[in-house]
Amino acid sequence: MVELPLRPCGVLIRGCGSATPSRSISNEDLGQRVETSDEWIRSRTGIGARRVVGTNESLIDLSAAASSAALEMAGWPAESLDLILLATSTPDDLFGSAPRLQSRLGASHAAAFDLTAACSGFLFALITAAQYLRSGAMRRILVVGADQLSRWVDWNDRRSCVLFGDAAGAVVLESRDDGQDDLLGFLMRCDGSRGEVLQLPQIKTHAPLVGEATHQCGGFEPIRMNGQEVYKFAVREVPAILEALLDTTNCQAEQLDWLLLHQANQRILDAVAERFSIPKTKVLSNLANYGNTSAATIPLMLDEAVRDGRVQPGHQLASSGFGAGLSWGAALLRWSGPA
Ligand code: UT7
Repeated sequence: MVELPLRPCGVLIRGCGSATPSRSISNEDLGQRVETSDEWIRSRTGIGARRVVGTNESLIDLSAAASSAALEMAGWPAESLDLILLATSTPDDLFGSAPRLQSRLGASHAAAFDLTAACSGFLFALITAAQYLRSGAMRRILVVGADQLSRWVDWNDRRSCVLFGDAAGAVVLESRDDGQDDLLGFLMRCDGSRGEVLQLPQIKTHAPLVGEATHQCGGFEPIRMNGQEVYKFAVREVPAILEALLDTTNCQAEQLDWLLLHQANQRILDAVAERFSIPKTKVLSNLANYGNTSAATIPLMLDEAVRDGRVQPGHQLASSGFGAGLSWGAALLRWSGPA
Protein backbone atom coordinates (compact mmCIF):
# COMPACT_ATOMS: atom_id res chain seq x y z
CA MET A 1 0.00 0.00 0.00
CA VAL A 2 1.53 3.31 -1.13
CA GLU A 3 1.02 6.32 1.15
CA LEU A 4 0.29 9.30 -1.10
CA PRO A 5 1.65 12.78 -0.28
CA LEU A 6 -0.86 15.58 0.36
CA ARG A 7 0.52 17.90 -2.32
CA PRO A 8 1.30 16.93 -5.96
CA CYS A 9 4.95 16.12 -6.56
CA GLY A 10 7.16 17.53 -9.30
CA VAL A 11 8.67 15.46 -12.11
CA LEU A 12 12.34 15.71 -13.02
CA ILE A 13 13.92 14.41 -16.25
CA ARG A 14 17.13 12.81 -14.96
CA GLY A 15 18.58 11.05 -18.01
CA CYS A 16 18.10 10.23 -21.66
CA GLY A 17 19.39 7.71 -24.17
CA SER A 18 18.83 6.55 -27.72
CA ALA A 19 19.75 3.83 -30.17
CA THR A 20 19.46 3.42 -33.92
CA PRO A 21 20.02 0.41 -36.18
CA SER A 22 23.44 0.15 -37.78
CA ARG A 23 22.14 0.02 -41.37
CA SER A 24 21.61 3.42 -43.01
CA ILE A 25 19.65 3.66 -46.26
CA SER A 26 20.36 6.85 -48.21
CA ASN A 27 17.99 8.60 -50.58
CA GLU A 28 20.19 7.40 -53.43
CA ASP A 29 19.81 3.82 -52.16
CA LEU A 30 16.01 4.20 -52.20
CA GLY A 31 16.22 5.44 -55.76
CA GLN A 32 17.21 1.88 -56.69
CA ARG A 33 13.87 0.66 -55.36
CA VAL A 34 11.32 3.36 -56.30
CA GLU A 35 11.25 6.23 -58.76
CA THR A 36 12.57 9.05 -56.60
CA SER A 37 15.63 11.23 -56.16
CA ASP A 38 17.78 12.71 -53.39
CA GLU A 39 16.79 16.16 -54.66
CA TRP A 40 13.02 15.43 -54.39
CA ILE A 41 13.21 13.86 -50.94
CA ARG A 42 15.52 16.51 -49.45
CA SER A 43 13.61 19.47 -50.85
CA ARG A 44 10.16 18.14 -49.80
CA THR A 45 11.09 16.63 -46.43
CA GLY A 46 14.65 17.48 -45.34
CA ILE A 47 15.40 13.75 -45.08
CA GLY A 48 18.72 12.43 -46.39
CA ALA A 49 18.84 8.91 -44.91
CA ARG A 50 17.02 6.58 -42.53
CA ARG A 51 18.09 3.63 -40.37
CA VAL A 52 16.46 0.22 -40.88
CA VAL A 53 16.54 -2.73 -38.46
CA GLY A 54 18.46 -5.64 -39.99
CA THR A 55 18.37 -9.37 -39.42
CA ASN A 56 20.32 -9.39 -36.14
CA GLU A 57 18.56 -6.46 -34.43
CA SER A 58 15.12 -5.93 -32.94
CA LEU A 59 12.88 -3.28 -31.45
CA ILE A 60 13.69 -4.66 -28.00
CA ASP A 61 17.44 -4.45 -28.69
CA LEU A 62 17.13 -0.77 -29.60
CA SER A 63 14.81 -0.06 -26.67
CA ALA A 64 17.15 -1.80 -24.23
CA ALA A 65 20.21 0.09 -25.52
CA ALA A 66 18.39 3.45 -25.29
CA SER A 67 17.07 2.62 -21.82
CA SER A 68 20.45 1.49 -20.50
CA ALA A 69 22.04 4.73 -21.71
CA ALA A 70 19.32 6.79 -19.96
CA LEU A 71 19.72 4.81 -16.72
CA GLU A 72 23.49 5.18 -16.90
CA MET A 73 23.22 8.95 -17.37
CA ALA A 74 20.97 9.18 -14.29
CA GLY A 75 23.20 6.78 -12.36
CA TRP A 76 20.24 4.56 -11.49
CA PRO A 77 20.20 0.77 -11.31
CA ALA A 78 17.38 -0.83 -13.33
CA GLU A 79 16.08 -2.44 -10.11
CA SER A 80 15.17 1.04 -8.82
CA LEU A 81 12.50 1.56 -11.50
CA ASP A 82 8.82 1.38 -10.49
CA LEU A 83 7.40 1.43 -14.03
CA ILE A 84 8.41 1.08 -17.67
CA LEU A 85 6.18 2.67 -20.30
CA LEU A 86 6.99 1.67 -23.87
CA ALA A 87 5.37 3.90 -26.48
CA THR A 88 5.26 1.92 -29.70
CA SER A 89 2.92 1.10 -32.57
CA THR A 90 5.17 -1.72 -33.75
CA PRO A 91 5.60 -4.15 -30.84
CA ASP A 92 7.39 -7.44 -31.33
CA ASP A 93 4.40 -9.00 -29.58
CA LEU A 94 0.83 -7.68 -29.79
CA PHE A 95 0.35 -8.61 -26.12
CA GLY A 96 3.02 -6.01 -25.37
CA SER A 97 6.77 -5.61 -25.69
CA ALA A 98 7.36 -3.65 -22.47
CA PRO A 99 7.55 -6.82 -20.32
CA ARG A 100 10.37 -8.13 -22.57
CA LEU A 101 12.19 -4.87 -22.08
CA GLN A 102 11.64 -5.08 -18.32
CA SER A 103 13.19 -8.53 -18.26
CA ARG A 104 16.09 -7.57 -20.56
CA LEU A 105 16.99 -4.62 -18.32
CA GLY A 106 16.62 -6.63 -15.11
CA ALA A 107 14.11 -4.08 -13.82
CA SER A 108 12.66 -6.68 -11.51
CA HIS A 109 10.53 -4.30 -9.41
CA ALA A 110 8.98 -2.44 -12.34
CA ALA A 111 5.53 -2.88 -13.79
CA ALA A 112 5.67 -2.54 -17.57
CA PHE A 113 3.18 -1.95 -20.35
CA ASP A 114 2.92 -0.61 -23.89
CA LEU A 115 1.16 2.57 -24.87
CA THR A 116 0.09 3.11 -28.48
CA ALA A 117 -0.43 6.59 -29.87
CA ALA A 118 1.68 6.48 -33.06
CA CYS A 119 3.92 9.54 -33.44
CA SER A 120 2.36 11.19 -30.36
CA GLY A 121 3.21 8.09 -28.33
CA PHE A 122 6.32 9.29 -26.55
CA LEU A 123 4.78 12.58 -25.43
CA PHE A 124 1.57 10.84 -24.35
CA ALA A 125 3.63 8.26 -22.41
CA LEU A 126 5.71 10.98 -20.74
CA ILE A 127 2.53 12.78 -19.66
CA THR A 128 0.99 9.50 -18.47
CA ALA A 129 4.11 8.64 -16.47
CA ALA A 130 4.04 12.09 -14.90
CA GLN A 131 0.63 11.36 -13.35
CA TYR A 132 2.01 8.39 -11.36
CA LEU A 133 4.94 10.55 -10.27
CA ARG A 134 2.85 13.63 -9.42
CA SER A 135 0.58 11.56 -7.17
CA GLY A 136 3.63 10.20 -5.38
CA ALA A 137 2.49 6.64 -6.13
CA MET A 138 5.80 6.00 -7.93
CA ARG A 139 9.33 7.39 -7.61
CA ARG A 140 11.16 6.39 -10.78
CA ILE A 141 9.80 5.69 -14.28
CA LEU A 142 11.46 4.82 -17.58
CA VAL A 143 9.63 6.12 -20.66
CA VAL A 144 10.69 4.72 -24.03
CA GLY A 145 9.58 5.73 -27.52
CA ALA A 146 10.51 3.06 -30.06
CA ASP A 147 9.26 2.11 -33.48
CA GLN A 148 10.20 -0.17 -36.31
CA LEU A 149 7.96 1.16 -39.06
CA SER A 150 10.22 -0.44 -41.69
CA ARG A 151 8.20 -3.62 -41.05
CA TRP A 152 4.97 -1.95 -42.09
CA VAL A 153 6.03 0.48 -44.79
CA ASP A 154 5.05 -0.35 -48.36
CA TRP A 155 8.54 -0.17 -49.82
CA ASN A 156 7.04 0.18 -53.30
CA ASP A 157 5.05 3.31 -52.38
CA ARG A 158 7.33 6.28 -53.00
CA ARG A 159 4.79 8.66 -51.43
CA SER A 160 5.37 7.18 -47.99
CA CYS A 161 8.43 4.89 -47.93
CA VAL A 162 10.92 7.74 -48.16
CA LEU A 163 9.72 9.22 -44.88
CA PHE A 164 10.17 6.56 -42.24
CA GLY A 165 13.00 4.95 -40.27
CA ASP A 166 13.58 2.87 -37.12
CA ALA A 167 14.93 4.01 -33.73
CA ALA A 168 14.41 4.07 -29.98
CA GLY A 169 14.79 6.86 -27.44
CA ALA A 170 14.29 6.92 -23.69
CA VAL A 171 14.10 9.22 -20.67
CA VAL A 172 14.08 8.44 -16.96
CA LEU A 173 11.82 10.47 -14.70
CA GLU A 174 11.91 11.06 -10.97
CA SER A 175 9.21 12.18 -8.54
CA ARG A 176 10.24 15.13 -6.31
CA ASP A 177 8.48 16.68 -3.34
CA ASP A 178 10.75 19.75 -3.02
CA GLY A 179 8.95 22.04 -5.51
CA GLN A 180 11.21 21.28 -8.50
CA ASP A 181 9.37 20.38 -11.70
CA ASP A 182 10.40 19.75 -15.33
CA LEU A 183 6.90 19.27 -16.75
CA LEU A 184 5.65 22.84 -16.80
CA GLY A 185 2.46 22.16 -18.74
CA PHE A 186 0.88 19.83 -21.27
CA LEU A 187 -2.09 19.38 -23.61
CA MET A 188 -3.33 16.28 -25.43
CA ARG A 189 -5.78 16.07 -28.34
CA CYS A 190 -7.34 13.44 -30.59
CA ASP A 191 -9.70 13.45 -33.57
CA GLY A 192 -10.54 9.89 -34.54
CA SER A 193 -12.94 11.08 -37.25
CA ARG A 194 -9.90 12.02 -39.37
CA GLY A 195 -8.00 8.82 -38.65
CA GLU A 196 -8.29 7.40 -42.15
CA VAL A 197 -5.61 9.78 -43.50
CA LEU A 198 -2.87 7.76 -41.77
CA GLN A 199 -3.49 4.11 -40.99
CA LEU A 200 -1.82 0.79 -40.41
CA PRO A 201 -5.04 -1.22 -40.69
CA GLN A 202 -5.92 -4.78 -39.84
CA ILE A 203 -6.14 -7.03 -42.92
CA LYS A 204 -9.71 -7.87 -43.86
CA THR A 205 -9.55 -11.58 -44.57
CA HIS A 206 -11.72 -14.35 -43.12
CA ALA A 207 -11.30 -18.10 -42.92
CA PRO A 208 -13.77 -20.90 -42.17
CA LEU A 209 -14.06 -21.83 -38.50
CA VAL A 210 -16.77 -24.50 -38.04
CA GLY A 211 -20.01 -24.93 -39.95
CA GLU A 212 -21.21 -21.54 -41.18
CA ALA A 213 -18.94 -19.64 -38.77
CA THR A 214 -15.84 -17.81 -39.95
CA HIS A 215 -13.08 -16.06 -38.07
CA GLN A 216 -11.17 -12.94 -39.00
CA CYS A 217 -7.47 -13.50 -39.72
CA GLY A 218 -4.71 -11.64 -37.90
CA GLY A 219 -2.21 -9.39 -39.63
CA PHE A 220 -1.92 -5.85 -40.88
CA GLU A 221 -1.77 -4.09 -44.20
CA PRO A 222 1.12 -1.72 -44.95
CA ILE A 223 0.91 1.94 -43.90
CA ARG A 224 -1.65 3.97 -45.85
CA MET A 225 -1.12 7.70 -45.86
CA ASN A 226 -2.64 10.75 -47.48
CA GLY A 227 0.50 12.87 -47.19
CA GLN A 228 -1.06 16.18 -48.11
CA GLU A 229 -3.87 15.81 -45.55
CA VAL A 230 -1.41 14.83 -42.80
CA TYR A 231 0.74 17.80 -43.74
CA LYS A 232 -2.21 20.22 -43.57
CA PHE A 233 -3.27 18.74 -40.22
CA ALA A 234 0.23 19.22 -38.80
CA VAL A 235 0.75 22.81 -39.91
CA ARG A 236 -2.71 23.76 -38.58
CA GLU A 237 -2.84 21.87 -35.27
CA VAL A 238 0.76 22.01 -34.05
CA PRO A 239 0.98 25.83 -33.95
CA ALA A 240 -2.51 25.95 -32.41
CA ILE A 241 -1.69 23.55 -29.58
CA LEU A 242 1.67 25.19 -28.93
CA GLU A 243 -0.01 28.57 -28.73
CA ALA A 244 -2.52 27.17 -26.22
CA LEU A 245 0.34 25.59 -24.26
CA LEU A 246 2.27 28.86 -24.07
CA ASP A 247 -0.92 30.66 -22.98
CA THR A 248 -1.74 28.20 -20.22
CA THR A 249 1.84 28.21 -18.91
CA ASN A 250 2.29 31.99 -19.22
CA CYS A 251 5.38 31.42 -21.32
CA GLN A 252 6.51 33.69 -24.18
CA ALA A 253 8.01 32.09 -27.30
CA GLU A 254 11.16 34.21 -26.70
CA GLN A 255 11.68 32.42 -23.36
CA LEU A 256 12.05 29.05 -25.09
CA ASP A 257 15.55 27.69 -25.49
CA TRP A 258 14.49 24.99 -27.94
CA LEU A 259 11.64 23.78 -30.12
CA LEU A 260 11.63 19.98 -29.89
CA LEU A 261 9.00 18.79 -32.38
CA HIS A 262 8.17 15.35 -33.71
CA GLN A 263 10.53 14.96 -36.66
CA ALA A 264 8.16 14.38 -39.58
CA ASN A 265 9.15 16.91 -42.22
CA GLN A 266 11.55 19.88 -42.15
CA ARG A 267 8.88 22.01 -43.84
CA ILE A 268 6.56 21.37 -40.87
CA LEU A 269 9.33 22.35 -38.40
CA ASP A 270 10.06 25.51 -40.39
CA ALA A 271 6.38 26.48 -40.61
CA VAL A 272 5.90 26.11 -36.84
CA ALA A 273 9.07 28.06 -36.06
CA GLU A 274 8.03 30.83 -38.42
CA ARG A 275 4.59 31.06 -36.80
CA PHE A 276 6.24 31.86 -33.43
CA SER A 277 9.20 33.82 -34.88
CA ILE A 278 11.57 31.28 -33.35
CA PRO A 279 14.99 31.44 -35.05
CA LYS A 280 16.06 28.33 -36.94
CA THR A 281 19.05 27.97 -34.62
CA LYS A 282 16.60 27.05 -31.82
CA VAL A 283 14.76 24.39 -33.83
CA LEU A 284 16.14 20.92 -33.14
CA SER A 285 16.25 18.73 -36.24
CA ASN A 286 17.94 15.46 -37.12
CA LEU A 287 15.61 14.55 -39.97
CA ALA A 288 18.51 14.55 -42.40
CA ASN A 289 20.02 11.48 -40.71
CA TYR A 290 17.05 9.50 -39.42
CA GLY A 291 13.78 10.56 -41.10
CA ASN A 292 10.55 10.03 -39.18
CA THR A 293 11.06 7.35 -36.52
CA SER A 294 7.52 7.74 -35.12
CA ALA A 295 7.41 7.44 -31.30
CA ALA A 296 11.22 7.65 -31.15
CA THR A 297 11.79 11.03 -32.80
CA ILE A 298 11.46 13.28 -29.73
CA PRO A 299 13.66 11.32 -27.28
CA LEU A 300 16.17 10.53 -30.07
CA MET A 301 16.49 14.24 -30.84
CA LEU A 302 16.61 15.21 -27.17
CA ASP A 303 19.36 12.69 -26.47
CA GLU A 304 21.48 13.91 -29.39
CA ALA A 305 21.15 17.54 -28.29
CA VAL A 306 21.86 16.77 -24.62
CA ARG A 307 24.93 14.69 -25.43
CA ASP A 308 26.42 17.24 -27.84
CA GLY A 309 25.89 20.00 -25.27
CA ARG A 310 23.24 22.07 -27.05
CA VAL A 311 20.59 21.36 -24.41
CA GLN A 312 21.91 22.42 -20.99
CA PRO A 313 20.47 21.95 -17.49
CA GLY A 314 17.72 24.51 -16.91
CA HIS A 315 16.86 24.92 -20.60
CA GLN A 316 13.18 25.14 -21.53
CA LEU A 317 11.87 23.15 -24.47
CA ALA A 318 8.48 23.33 -26.17
CA SER A 319 7.68 19.90 -27.54
CA SER A 320 4.88 18.63 -29.75
CA GLY A 321 4.08 15.17 -31.04
CA PHE A 322 1.52 14.55 -33.79
CA GLY A 323 0.44 11.82 -36.14
CA ALA A 324 -1.90 8.90 -36.70
CA GLY A 325 -5.11 8.80 -34.74
CA LEU A 326 -5.20 11.57 -35.53
CA SER A 327 -3.55 12.51 -32.26
CA TRP A 328 -1.42 15.39 -31.15
CA GLY A 329 -0.09 16.89 -27.97
CA ALA A 330 2.35 19.40 -26.56
CA ALA A 331 4.41 19.79 -23.43
CA LEU A 332 6.56 22.52 -21.98
CA LEU A 333 9.62 20.78 -20.55
CA ARG A 334 12.72 21.70 -18.63
CA TRP A 335 15.87 19.60 -18.87
CA SER A 336 17.40 18.95 -15.44
CA GLY A 337 19.67 16.05 -16.21
CA PRO A 338 21.50 13.92 -13.65
CA ALA A 339 21.58 14.97 -9.98
O1 UT7 B 1 4.21 11.42 -38.43
C1 UT7 B 1 3.37 11.86 -39.46
C2 UT7 B 1 3.73 11.06 -40.69
N1 UT7 B 1 3.37 11.63 -41.93
C3 UT7 B 1 3.81 12.82 -42.39
O2 UT7 B 1 4.50 13.55 -41.75
C4 UT7 B 1 3.42 13.18 -43.82
C5 UT7 B 1 3.22 14.67 -43.99
N2 UT7 B 1 3.22 14.99 -45.44
C6 UT7 B 1 4.35 15.24 -46.08
O3 UT7 B 1 5.41 15.27 -45.48
C7 UT7 B 1 4.26 15.52 -47.56
O4 UT7 B 1 2.90 15.56 -47.94
C8 UT7 B 1 5.00 14.46 -48.43
C9 UT7 B 1 6.49 14.60 -48.23
C10 UT7 B 1 4.56 13.05 -48.05
C11 UT7 B 1 4.69 14.68 -49.90
O5 UT7 B 1 5.06 16.00 -50.28
P1 UT7 B 1 4.04 16.86 -51.13
O6 UT7 B 1 4.71 18.14 -51.42
O7 UT7 B 1 2.73 16.91 -50.38
O8 UT7 B 1 3.92 16.01 -52.47
P2 UT7 B 1 2.61 15.43 -53.16
O9 UT7 B 1 2.07 14.26 -52.43
O10 UT7 B 1 1.69 16.57 -53.47
O11 UT7 B 1 3.20 14.92 -54.52
C12 UT7 B 1 3.74 15.84 -55.51
C13 UT7 B 1 4.30 15.03 -56.66
C14 UT7 B 1 3.36 13.95 -57.17
O12 UT7 B 1 3.54 13.86 -58.59
P3 UT7 B 1 2.40 14.42 -59.56
O13 UT7 B 1 1.16 13.64 -59.20
O14 UT7 B 1 2.28 15.88 -59.24
O15 UT7 B 1 2.97 14.12 -60.91
C15 UT7 B 1 3.88 12.68 -56.56
O16 UT7 B 1 3.60 11.54 -57.35
O17 UT7 B 1 5.47 14.34 -56.21
C16 UT7 B 1 5.36 12.95 -56.53
N3 UT7 B 1 6.05 12.19 -55.53
C17 UT7 B 1 7.35 11.86 -55.59
N4 UT7 B 1 8.28 12.09 -56.52
C18 UT7 B 1 9.52 11.64 -56.29
C19 UT7 B 1 5.54 11.71 -54.35
N5 UT7 B 1 6.50 11.07 -53.67
C20 UT7 B 1 7.62 11.15 -54.42
C21 UT7 B 1 8.94 10.68 -54.24
N6 UT7 B 1 9.84 10.95 -55.20
N7 UT7 B 1 9.31 10.00 -53.14
